[in-house]
Amino acid sequence: MELLTNKRELTGTVEVPGDKSMSHRSIMFGAIAEGTTRIKHFLRADDCMSTIAAFRVLGVEIEETDEEIIVHGQGWDALKQPKDAINIGNSGTTIRLLMGILAGTDFTTTLYGDDSIAKRPMNRVMLPLKEMGANCEGHAETEFPPVTVIGTKNLQPITYHMPVSSAQVKSAILFAALQADGETTIIEKKKTRDHSEHMIRQFGGEIDVDGLTIRVKGKQKFVGQTMTVPGDISSAAFFMVAGLVVPNSQVHLTNVGLNPTRTGIVDVIEQMGGQVTISDASRNTGKLAGTITVETSELQGIEIGGDLIPRLIDELPVIALLATQANGTTIIKDAAELKVKETNRIDAVVRELTTLGANIEATEDGMIIHGKTKLHGGRVTSYGDHRIGMMLQVAALLVEEGAVVLEKADAVSVSYPDFFEDLASLCK
Ligand code: S3P
Repeated sequence: MELLTNKRELTGTVEVPGDKSMSHRSIMFGAIAEGTTRIKHFLRADDCMSTIAAFRVLGVEIEETDEEIIVHGQGWDALKQPKDAINIGNSGTTIRLLMGILAGTDFTTTLYGDDSIAKRPMNRVMLPLKEMGANCEGHAETEFPPVTVIGTKNLQPITYHMPVSSAQVKSAILFAALQADGETTIIEKKKTRDHSEHMIRQFGGEIDVDGLTIRVKGKQKFVGQTMTVPGDISSAAFFMVAGLVVPNSQVHLTNVGLNPTRTGIVDVIEQMGGQVTISDASRNTGKLAGTITVETSELQGIEIGGDLIPRLIDELPVIALLATQANGTTIIKDAAELKVKETNRIDAVVRELTTLGANIEATEDGMIIHGKTKLHGGRVTSYGDHRIGMMLQVAALLVEEGAVVLEKADAVSVSYPDFFEDLASLCK
């Protein structure tokens, strides 16, 4: 696909689609709750549709209307053994969180996905679930999907010090812990997104969070809810960066979720000297959301690492692009997790941005970017990774001469099917 290039101005307003992490979890909690769950502004993109499809295969009735998704939950015990293995597509969140739910069933389920999923590490989930008494195995004695989960109605609570900072792993353990016989304690390395913790409370359950320590009792039951998912800050991030780096721009992003475990990119933009403001912040069914406005800015390179990383992990590809337009050096560190995302995002970002003329090098746990550089045309690929594809389209906006052709552009449908149209709507 030939990308939009050479833009001299971006102006206007975009309402980005619903938050991906929250959309997945809303289906999952709706499925295990008793009663009806109604979800507005649900993200209808491939990943979240994989979650809906998986729960339908497990016997849960889920309706789709123009306005909302309606989940007819009948409690944990209503989940039924599927006839065949379940295909979760490209979705790491679906496979990992589902493993935690399936750990407490009295049946065996096999989960598989696409070529990218087949390379994603699952020991991080299988090991704690095994400790709790469920049996899980990866394909051919590896830790990679397909994975088979042999559930047990006799899950035992554990105390678990997380070896990685991962909300997917934490959430998988939480789902298993909610079905266990006693209280589980999870100790995080760094604070990661806490949507599961919020939804446990929202659906009528109990959880105790004290800094990095989380305690949750087993045998909990949930009640169906009505909820509205705010816009995804990880999707808004592409427009934030575009508005900061394209000349003469002012971009408003409305109804963006502002959960503090997700707003690391706002902190980074401020530290780099970028103009970013938040307005109209309000709580919609308990969720903090607001309008983010960015304007073209003169930026300075900074160091990004430590506790900030989990708060912007999915934004790092587009933050790397932002750094190519900042004066001086930006160092991204403590981000080795990027290597085990939909693709190796350190290698992918460095290779593709280098093709477009950036001065960027890979390190063991991040990247070093020297700015500011003028980008030029070239042939690039998303590697089938939605966030790499969208980052490259934002990069292409800066290219004054030559075309930018993106291979595997359709990957954006994983999290943002209308991305190219929404971006075009801002172009003058
Ligand atoms: C997610 C957690 C993050 C993130 C992913 C969504 C979630 O993954 O990268 O896109 O919804 O819990 P990790 O938990 O592996 O860091």
